[in-house]
Amino acid sequence: MAASTAAREAVALDPMAGRAKVRDDDRLRAFYRELEAHEAGALWTVLNALEPEHPTSTSRPMKWAYDDLRPKVMKATELVTAEDAARRVIMLVNPDRKRERATCGWLFSGLQVMLPGEALSAHEHTFSALRFVIEGQGGYTVVDGEVLHVRPKDFLLTPSGSWHDHGVLPESDTAVVWQDGLDIPLIHALECPFYRVHPELRQTPTTPVNASHAMYGVGGMIPADTRWDRPYSPLSYYPWARSEEALRNLARVSDGSPYDGVIMDFVNPVTGGPVMPTIGVQMQMLRPGEHTRAHRHTGTVIYTAAEGRGYSVIDGRRFDWKENDVFCVPSWSLHEHANVSETDDAFLFSFNDSPMMRSLALCRGEVLEENGGRQEVVAREVG
Ligand SMILES: [Fe+2]
Ligand SMILES: [Fe+2]
Repeated sequence: MAASTAAREAVALDPMAGRAKVRDDDRLRAFYRELEAHEAGALWTVLNALEPEHPTSTSRPMKWAYDDLRPKVMKATELVTAEDAARRVIMLVNPDRKRERATCGWLFSGLQVMLPGEALSAHEHTFSALRFVIEGQGGYTVVDGEVLHVRPKDFLLTPSGSWHDHGVLPESDTAVVWQDGLDIPLIHALECPFYRVHPELRQTPTTPVNASHAMYGVGGMIPADTRWDRPYSPLSYYPWARSEEALRNLARVSDGSPYDGVIMDFVNPVTGGPVMPTIGVQMQMLRPGEHTRAHRHTGTVIYTAAEGRGYSVIDGRRFDWKENDVFCVPSWSLHEHANVSETDDAFLFSFNDSPMMRSLALCRGEVLEENGGRQEVVAREVG
């Protein structure tokens, strides 16, 4: 007992106790060069960096203002055809993750624009994808034969391995912009990207429009003969009206989370689990004047302001957001959210890598206890 107390005191006094602390000298430096000649190295020279006390993300907190990007998105329609581009997407690239084309962590996001009558070729890939509709009428996707018609603030899934093609109905009179959310950086890191163009370039619809929503979207019920063993949700379409109603209903009977306000997971209705194996999706509502407490956790979250105005403080930097702005919270970054309106609710749509974190048993988190759970704001991002 006494020995263990003494050991604890020694550790408390010496921050390098139990850590690599070899002091290099000429003999060691010569030894490292010998190892290098054999494409080898001494672990202790890098051990503390390889095994940090906590994560330090290589992505930085960022916001992409829709007012800034919308003109660029529309300009793209004048410069390239959707067919030539294959996907006419303006990528949201984290400045510190350009090599991976990552928006944050191992997730990718972009703004895709299509004009009335444009129809992209059908394909499938190992990437999991979702689309959150920003603006425009008449957008559609065909997912494994199911035609999905979508409106602003709806979102849909195009899971890994599913055939999908996108377009805008010819009778529409607006461009459609939607936010793509994919796990492209992750799938490349895992070295398993595959991509195939559909042999007929287009799918033949096999179900009525939005059939999966009719079958699985009611909430609390699924068809009695359901046999679904794919690793993603059979429900492909999550309309905004239902999401908003669900959040408002929950707000009537629950105080919600001190860290997220009223927040709900979009789920696979058969399993209750995440909608796709690598990407989780949530919607949260911040009530008028609500300001959440700060916390941090492993995993990446990419948010889109679906409605309202507010700000989020991420690692001490304040990012003001309004409808259609996108911002990201890197792994282990402290974050809190605030709705600046005293009269209206604000809604944040978000997608994350938490299903993967959970399946790998890597979920960890902590809350900020000091200062009433509020961070000190050291910088404010304008725009
Ligand atoms: Fe795709
Ligand atoms: Fe969080």
